[in-house]
Amino acid sequence: MAQDLQNTRVLITGAGVRIGRQIALSFARAGARVIVHYNQSEEAAQELLAVLNGISNGHCCVRADLTNSEERQTLIPGLIAGGLSLNCLINNASVYRRCPLAHVISERLREDYEINFVAPFLLMRDFALYCEEGCIINLLDQRVASVDPSASTYGFAKKSLRDATEAAAVQWAPRIRVNAVAPGLVLAPEGVAPESLARLVKQVPMAEPSAPEEIADACLFLATARTITGQIIYVDGGLHLTGAPLPEREAADYSRP
Ligand SMILES: NC(=O)c1ccc[n+]([C@@H]2O[C@H](COP(=O)([O-])OP(=O)(O)OC[C@H]3O[C@@H](n4cnc5c(N)ncnc54)[C@H](OP(=O)(O)O)[C@@H]3O)[C@@H](O)[C@H]2O)c1
Repeated sequence: MAQDLQNTRVLITGAGVRIGRQIALSFARAGARVIVHYNQSEEAAQELLAVLNGISNGHCCVRADLTNSEERQTLIPGLIAGGLSLNCLINNASVYRRCPLAHVISERLREDYEINFVAPFLLMRDFALYCEEGCIINLLDQRVASVDPSASTYGFAKKSLRDATEAAAVQWAPRIRVNAVAPGLVLAPEGVAPESLARLVKQVPMAEPSAPEEIADACLFLATARTITGQIIYVDGGLHLTGAPLPEREAADYSRP
């Protein structure tokens, strides 16, 4: 796998912590200049920037709340106006929340779509409008391959992002390649005990969680694969083939919220 990203400047959203942080490290080690986007994790982002600067020069941080339309719509044009032309965008920022379908209120629906679909889609659009060429990589979820009612509006939004990935891959070729990585079990969401992850791992065909480094490796591959577009790489130990992990099917909850 070619991993020479010397001519790559990549914007990675939600890169201060967890999977985004690992993608930033792996891209910097492969020679890319990394723009670490964060919202609330300022301290972690600055700490990561110091680590990246120990690897090579040319990295920086940028803060934006991607659910704030003003901050979102000035993100890419602002970087370019500041002399930071991009040729790679990785839409990693996300919020994962479960909710019984009958409890979804309109505000919740809007919030989940805003961060998991609207923001990454509009960043894709701005990349197409303001950047000359390059590639976009969207972080999906292996749940896009099956039906997991518990994933609720998060799952619906990720499926919309999958559709946008494939549509843009066709419409923007050959100038911009658009691909996706769909993780399975990697890191337990904030507030979820690692023991519950261990329980779910029993349903993964490969019988182990995927490491953040594997997600980053898939992104690195897509960033350098010159003719691959519209592709989704599932990094999930085969989970998408057997369906989303459901320890027990949740009964419908019709209690009024
Ligand atoms: N973790 C897994 O096992 C797993 C499984 C399947 C799919 N995935 C996908 O892989 C990607 C990374 O997963 P993860 O678990 O590392 O993600 P995460 O920790 O849930 O979220 C990553 C970052 O998104 C940023 N974010 C959230 N709301 C934002 C907002 N309004 N504006 C700007 N940034 C915002 C946050 O940045 P700040 O902290 O700076 O606010 C957060 O640190 C996600 O797209 C996720 O859906 C992960």
